[in-house]
Amino acid sequence: MKRDEAIAFVREKAEKETTVRHLISVEGVMRRLARHFGEDEDSWGLVGLFHDLDQDQTHDDAERHAYQAAEWLREAGVDEKVVNGVLAHAHEEYRTDRASQAVVHADAVAGLLVAAALVRPEKANGMKVPSVKKKLKEKAFAPGVNRQEITEVEDRLGVPIDEFLALGIEGLQSVAAEIDLQP
Ligand SMILES: [Fe+2]
Repeated sequence: MKRDEAIAFVREKAEKETTVRHLISVEGVMRRLARHFGEDEDSWGLVGLFHDLDQDQTHDDAERHAYQAAEWLREAGVDEKVVNGVLAHAHEEYRTDRASQAVVHADAVAGLLVAAALVRPEKANGMKVPSVKKKLKEKAFAPGVNRQEITEVEDRLGVPIDEFLALGIEGLQSVAAEIDLQP
């Protein structure tokens, strides 16, 4: 699926603008990570973009979350590798390759980075690793963000935390204009 079709699909399924923005932020991070690993940027981007596709329909039903999205994606003929990555962000048994593991960390770090960008006048512009790290340690900041899913990245993907945060920042900046995170 091409990116413009994928964005249209997201806009059709997601009911809230915050969901659309979250999906695009995770897409940006996943693309940057794919490039870092020499993996397929388009495929990783789609995993990020679709991971919470059914969020607005399944938010009160954790069992159905991601399965509804998988059903829509299969109907639309989306690659099974992408579908697996979408299932993996919510259900551990699908974390079978690097993309399906990476989406867990990309999801968490994008949440932290967007929250951090929103409280800066320059938004995502000029964000730096040390200030993001401070926010990571500040438990009262963006309390919904799973810190463990960020700090575990070195064990799971072999990327040191500082490097991972730097990649995350670059990924977010690559989509900042689309999600109102530019001043
Ligand atoms: Fe998410």
